[in-house]
Amino acid sequence: MTDRGRDLTDPDWWRTAVVYQVYPRSFADGNGDGIGDLAGLLDRVPYLAALGIDAVWLSPFYPSALADGGYDVDDYRDVDPRIGTLGQFDALVAALHAEGIRIVVDIVPNHSGSGHAWFRAALAAAPGSPERARYVFRDGAGEHGELPPSDWVSHFGGPAWTRVPDGQWYLHLFAPEQPDFDWSNPEVREEFHDVLRFWSDRGVDGFRVDVAHALAKDLSEPFRSYPRIHRDVVAVDGTDPLFDRDEVHEIFRGWRRVMNEYDPPRSAVAEAWAPPARLPLYARPDELGQAFEFDLVLEPWSAPAFRSTIQTALDRAREAGASSTWVLSNHDIVRHASRFGLPDGTDLNAWLLTDGTEPACDLALGLRRALAGTLLLLALPGAAYLYQGEELGLPEVADLPVEALEDPIWERSAHTEKGRDGARVPLPWTTSGPSFGFGQGGSHLPQPTWFADFAVEAEERDPGSTLALYRRALALRATLLEGEGVRFVDDRPAVIEVVRDGGWRSVTTFGESAALPEGEILLASQPVGDDRVLPADATAWLRDPA
Ligand code: NOJ
Ligand code: CA
Repeated sequence: MTDRGRDLTDPDWWRTAVVYQVYPRSFADGNGDGIGDLAGLLDRVPYLAALGIDAVWLSPFYPSALADGGYDVDDYRDVDPRIGTLGQFDALVAALHAEGIRIVVDIVPNHSGSGHAWFRAALAAAPGSPERARYVFRDGAGEHGELPPSDWVSHFGGPAWTRVPDGQWYLHLFAPEQPDFDWSNPEVREEFHDVLRFWSDRGVDGFRVDVAHALAKDLSEPFRSYPRIHRDVVAVDGTDPLFDRDEVHEIFRGWRRVMNEYDPPRSAVAEAWAPPARLPLYARPDELGQAFEFDLVLEPWSAPAFRSTIQTALDRAREAGASSTWVLSNHDIVRHASRFGLPDGTDLNAWLLTDGTEPACDLALGLRRALAGTLLLLALPGAAYLYQGEELGLPEVADLPVEALEDPIWERSAHTEKGRDGARVPLPWTTSGPSFGFGQGGSHLPQPTWFADFAVEAEERDPGSTLALYRRALALRATLLEGEGVRFVDDRPAVIEVVRDGGWRSVTTFGESAALPEGEILLASQPVGDDRVLPADATAWLRDPA
């Protein structure tokens, strides 16, 4: 438990929180059916408390056909029966709050699952009906409407339109099982206000907003051409047909009014792969408050790259009156312990297609850099988002057999992209036993034998483990954080030295060792000898001499 975490009435908690992402189907399995669940998570609340996090971000746990790992939500007001019950959800909120840990839930507003009651009603209703108007149904192009209404593509590959038996087509920017809502429809807006209230009434402290930049679309016809989705092609002036349109902000101002009905107000963070310069718009105080900064995820391990990205992110947050959000891993990207072990510029998708053999990954180097990077981000002002398993130093499982893959990307890309399952393999809790203690049965994605080395049980025994370092770092951070003030000492090109309010600093080395400044060494990601030289690819925190 952290000092800041104890005060559940603090309205500003999210500004400096350490938020731990739980991907529920892969965290802990309470009933041995191979799928993680709320019972398993409840059992692990003491583990989360000992880790020292401030909040849990729970990825979707709603009823879902699992066409996209739960991001295809069939009912926004319930728990998937395979994951648990609303009663267990309430028990989880209570158990976390009792430890001073907040809970943030994922809200998926761009699309529902195709099993959602509204979508089933839309399919049963006629073209032009109010039921269809909650989604984006259109007649096709071509003489007989046999062609999709536009050239729009899905994020996961293939066309963004699917035809229904009566001949109309519906829009899905992701899988066909994820029909997009039409957010110009007031019924959709009211529905989500109600969903926000439903979870806020149950004690949820905040929301992570899935694909926040996609809700508002230009659906006027003729549709504009949009044959490729990539952050780099999104118009930077709010006029893009599909993403980051200016009208999206009115939606979030409405959300903020709802979230401010609560005391303390509910927090939110936007997942928006919008043009970076426009991220502050989502984070404005009358909108969501925070927007994920993903730039570091795209960055190689280099001091200049990290320095400028960090500086830009701090500036952007300040511009918005928000606080920065630091992220190195989540359920959508190759785990950073592996990323940092690969040569700069590695095409991660191509690497996964070789089962992680080409190029070779230097795991020891990757883990050293990962720890150094994490400690650097934890020393910065703002919130840090951690992804389950990174506290164990878990690498990507790059060699999952293709028959085991669950990510729709694999099929939708016609087997040219392996997708994200390698970051979603159920956690190892014990060094032996069925599914390494994930549960009493199997595991919905196969775990490699080397998972034993990263098991919580093994790391808890080892004072030099990644887990031990994370625990020390989070406990220390809770006592050190004071104010937003930060200054960089910029005289060494391969070093990032961050000076914080409250008389402490963090030093990170990139590729070469460096002498540490004066002061008591509070923590270091690699051993430091009497010569006070910090090895290459390491971070140390120091208290400044009085
Ligand atoms: C972003 C989520 O993080 C990802 O996992 C999901 O596939 C898409 N949004 C679609 O909901
Ligand atoms: Ca289960």
